[in-house]
Amino acid sequence: MNRVAIVTGGTRGIGAEISRQLKAAGRTVVASYAANDAAAQDFSRETGIHVEKFDAGDFAQCAAAVQKITKDHGPITIVVNNAGITRDATLTKMTRDMWDSVIDTNLGSCFNLCKLTFEGMRTEKFGRIVNIGSINGQAGQYGQVNYAAAKSGIHGFTKALAQEGARFGITVNAVAPGYVDTDMVRAVPADVLQKIVARIPVGRLGKAEDIARGVVFLTAEEASFVTGSTLSINGGQHMY
Ligand code: CAA
Repeated sequence: MNRVAIVTGGTRGIGAEISRQLKAAGRTVVASYAANDAAAQDFSRETGIHVEKFDAGDFAQCAAAVQKITKDHGPITIVVNNAGITRDATLTKMTRDMWDSVIDTNLGSCFNLCKLTFEGMRTEKFGRIVNIGSINGQAGQYGQVNYAAAKSGIHGFTKALAQEGARFGITVNAVAPGYVDTDMVRAVPADVLQKIVARIPVGRLGKAEDIARGVVFLTAEEASFVTGSTLSINGGQHMY
C-alpha cells in the first residue's frame, strides 16, 4: 500500500538501504540527511527517492520538514528513526559536547519525529514506528557511554510509546543492529574492530540489507500484532 514513510539519516549506510527496501515495498519514501549534499543528491538521482535536508536532533527543523513533507506527499504514517552519530571516547576524555550531540541526534530525534507525526497517525488509525537501537545500547561498549545511553534510551522510549499507540493501530518497535559494514563501523580502529568481529558467531560484519529486511517486516501492514518488541540483528554477538 502506498503510504508515506520518512527515514532519518536515510541517504547513507543502513538508512539508505532501508529507504531503498521501503520504496521497493511500495512506500513513498522521504530520506532525510543532515549535511552531505553531494551524497544525498547522488542517492536521490540513483534511486528516485525524495530527500530532505534537516537536523533530526533539532525540533524546529523537524517541525518544518514534517509540515513540508505532509503538504507534498500526504500524512506520514511510517517513521524510521535511524539518524545516528558516534563520538567515541572513554569517559575521562569525553566532553560535554560529545555527550550532548550524541544524545540529541540519536535519542532527541526519536522524540522529535514521533511527537510531530503521532497525532496524524492517530487520525489515520495506522502507524508504524521503527527506532534503530543498537547492540551497544543492549550490552554497553567501552568508549561509548554517550552512544550506549542514547541507544538504551531508544529501547525504553520504544516500549513506552508502544503502549500509547496500541489502541490507535500504531506499532512502535526497535531494531538493534550489531556491527554492520558501514562508514560508522569502518571508523573504529582496525585492531579494535578485528577483535569485535572475532566475537561475532556468524563470523562477519552485518550488511545494511540484513537490517533493512527487519525494518520492512516491522512496517508491513500485516505486522499489526508486533509492538514494543526489539528485533536484534547482530550475527549472534549478543543474545538478548
Ligand atoms: N575493554 C577493556 N579495556 C579496553 C577496551 C575494552 N573493550 N578497549 C580498550 N581498552 C583499554 C586498552 O587496552 C587501553 O589499555 P592500556 O592503556 O592499558 O593499553 C585503554 O583501554 C585505552 O584504550 P585506547 O588506547 O583504545 O584508548 P583511546 O582513548 O585511544 O580510544 C576508544 C578509546 C575511542 C574507545 C577506542 O578504543 C575505540 O574507538 N573503541 C571502539 C569503540 C566502538 O566499538 N565503537 C562502535 C562504533 S560503531 C557503532 O557504534 C555502531 C553500532 O551501533 C554497533
